[in-house]
Amino acid sequence: MSVEREDDFDLHRMTALVTGATSGIGRAVAKRLAADVMSVVVTGRNAQRGAETVNEITEAGGQARFVEADLEDPAGIDRLAAEVGEIDVLVNNAGRAVWAPTEEMRVSDYDAMFASNVRAPFFLVAAFAPAMAAKGSGSVINIGSMAGSLGLANAAAYGATKAALAALTRGWTAEYSGRGVRFNTVAPGPVHTRPEARDLFDALAETTAMKRAAQPAEIAEAVAFLVSPKAGYITGATIAVDGGRTAI
Ligand SMILES: NC(=O)c1ccc[n+]([C@@H]2O[C@H](COP(=O)([O-])OP(=O)(O)OC[C@H]3O[C@@H](n4cnc5c(N)ncnc54)[C@H](OP(=O)(O)O)[C@@H]3O)[C@@H](O)[C@H]2O)c1
Repeated sequence: MSVEREDDFDLHRMTALVTGATSGIGRAVAKRLAADVMSVVVTGRNAQRGAETVNEITEAGGQARFVEADLEDPAGIDRLAAEVGEIDVLVNNAGRAVWAPTEEMRVSDYDAMFASNVRAPFFLVAAFAPAMAAKGSGSVINIGSMAGSLGLANAAAYGATKAALAALTRGWTAEYSGRGVRFNTVAPGPVHTRPEARDLFDALAETTAMKRAAQPAEIAEAVAFLVSPKAGYITGATIAVDGGRTAI
């Protein structure tokens, strides 16, 4: 991590806020951006797992700090924005996936999914994008899902949240691109994260062209590329990182 590559120069001293960086994909993204010499703000609700992410980054020589926030609470978003200040990169990764037959979906789970997967990214962009636009640069990555563009049984509501997030990405592209802020969606297929959902991930893995699920680090690589200057002309895109699932 102490060895700088030529392109590190552009990322050096940039600050990235990664939501849901206390586990899974978000933790892998936080570690990957820190390895690119960015200073990372790790956020989530679980302070202990947040500290673990921060420790993994700092032990590897990177820079990170944890700020606790419940993004389903609009006041929590306001407090997070006030505490964090200006950032260069926002990764809207925190999310909730409740899979259930439509007739069994509880209103509380439906509402919680839309609050964390759609409303929170919306108001985080409202909080952070204006300052990015004012300085003429910034990058926002929204973590979508293949479920946003495929019909998956028991995931109608979850898929709707991810389709909405991809629509937000396109809307923000229209709104902010003239002021130097790029927006992209990374849409993973199955990723081995929550151990309790291992069977679901394995079943979904069989439906991909590559017949396997991803590791979180494979999603983080796509995020790192998209926030880097190498992706300077990519905005408004949905990048599938799904083992070919949406191609077949
Ligand atoms: N795993 C997959 O197969 C897969 C596939 C496609 C897309 N995705 C998407 O990728 C993202 C990450 O998923 P994952 O599999 O890594 O899940 P995960 O391991 O369950 O992590 C979810 C993260 O979101 C945070 N979070 C959830 N609700 C929150 C809230 N109200 N306020 C603040 N933080 C909250 C959690 O933080 P705390 O626990 O600290 O609250 C946790 O860090 C999600 O948006 C998910 O929809 C996952």
